[in-house]
Amino acid sequence: MDSAYSDVAIAGDPLALPHLLPPVPQHPATVAEFAGLARSVAADRARWAPLVRYDATTRWYARLQTGPGYEVWLLSWLPGQSSGLHDHGRSSGVLTVLDGGLRERALTPRGETGRALTPGAQRVFAPGYVHEVVNDSLEPAVSLHVYFPGLTEMTPYACTPAAPGRPASAPSRV
Ligand SMILES: [Fe+2]
Repeated sequence: MDSAYSDVAIAGDPLALPHLLPPVPQHPATVAEFAGLARSVAADRARWAPLVRYDATTRWYARLQTGPGYEVWLLSWLPGQSSGLHDHGRSSGVLTVLDGGLRERALTPRGETGRALTPGAQRVFAPGYVHEVVNDSLEPAVSLHVYFPGLTEMTPYACTPAAPGRPASAPSRV
C-alpha cells in the first residue's frame, strides 16, 4: 500500500486511536469530526440496522442524517453489486464498512490502488478522489457514507487500458 504517498490516506485509521479523538460535536465541521460522526453512527446498530435492505436489482441506499454542509447515507450491498468507477464532485467523504466486506479500487495520479475494507475500516477522501467500491464477497455488506458538503454531483468514469479513469458520458447515481 502506498499510504505514505497518498494525500487521501493521511488520516490513517481513526479507529486505531479513539482515545486521541475529540468528542463529536452536534454538527461536525472538520475531517476528524466527520470521521467521528461516522464512528458514532456505526456504533449505533439500532439506528441503522432497520434501514438495511437488500435489493437484487440495485444497491439500496437510505439517507440517515443531514446537517449543515453534510449528509450521511447507508448503503446495502448484495454480493457482486458495485458502485462503478466515479468521483464525488466537490464533496469530501468518509466511508466506513458496518457489516460484511467490500473492496475498493482507486485511481490516483500514481496509478491504481486496491484494498479490502472490513467492518470498522474507515476511508477518508478529498474532492477529486476517483474510486470504485464492490462487494466481491459471498455475503451481503453494509456501509456508511458521510459526504461534506452533501453529494450533489458524481461523474462516472470509464476505465479501459487505453484510457484509464476517463469520464464516461452517461450519468449515474451512487
Ligand atoms: Fe464513492
